[in-house]
Amino acid sequence: MKECIGKVPGLAVILVGDRRDSQTYVRNKIKACEEAGIKSVMAELPNYCAEDDVMTAVLKFNEDPSVHGVLVQLPLPEHLDEEKILNVLSLEKDVDGFHPVNMGNLAMRGREPLFIPCTPKGCLELLIRSGVEIAGKKAVVIGRSNIVGLPISLLLQRHHATVSIVHACTKNPEQITREADIVVTAAGVPNLIRSSWLKQGSVVIDVGTCPIEDPSSEFGYRLVGDVCYEEALRVASAVTPVPGGVGPMTIAMLLCNTLDSAKRVYG
Ligand code: GUN
Repeated sequence: MKECIGKVPGLAVILVGDRRDSQTYVRNKIKACEEAGIKSVMAELPNYCAEDDVMTAVLKFNEDPSVHGVLVQLPLPEHLDEEKILNVLSLEKDVDGFHPVNMGNLAMRGREPLFIPCTPKGCLELLIRSGVEIAGKKAVVIGRSNIVGLPISLLLQRHHATVSIVHACTKNPEQITREADIVVTAAGVPNLIRSSWLKQGSVVIDVGTCPIEDPSSEFGYRLVGDVCYEEALRVASAVTPVPGGVGPMTIAMLLCNTLDSAKRVYG
């Protein structure tokens, strides 16, 4: 085993543009790094920057031996090609797990990704640590984004759930969701999930984050989830709140992935 005492894990964060929600997420990630003793570096680029500027920042962090994780906060401004940028990210530093090779390995049986995307990994951790049985259960995932819907559905399958994916074109989404033992929703539609959508005793994980104006809050807005929380509590056996549910788990998993990456380097 190589000597790793005194070595510090490092995370690089690239933020492009001025989206308030992305700024909040990034601020929270950097703060969590400070609290955990992980060194963080940040590259902030303006909304109108060129694709090459983002690529250059990624490549610089790829080469930096003090950086073990590189994260490009999504979504990127529309003129930038997200796929092209994520493709150049070093596979060994892809702590978000968004590189197509990591995602492909997550999808394929018998293969192991180097990193599992943080929000799905956090959802799974919540289920496991809360003693929720997954194997053989019916799970419904609402939304099919690359960041949450797709990887959480793959992860639940890996844990032997029977998984259905509900999306904007699904007919009778309410009926399908009502059959689920586990519901993971990431639609970004406030109050989409009413009590009538839920089976008695189900477990509901709300990954929805929709910013709504709120002059009384510190940043002028607050985040709301997909689930009608009070209603859902009357039917489900457990419901995660927004904020304070999955969000902190995403950050915790990012720290875990960064630490794992540093351990691979230092032994
Ligand atoms: N945007 C929303 N969630 C995430 C995330 O987990 N990672 C990154 N990089 N961008 C995001």
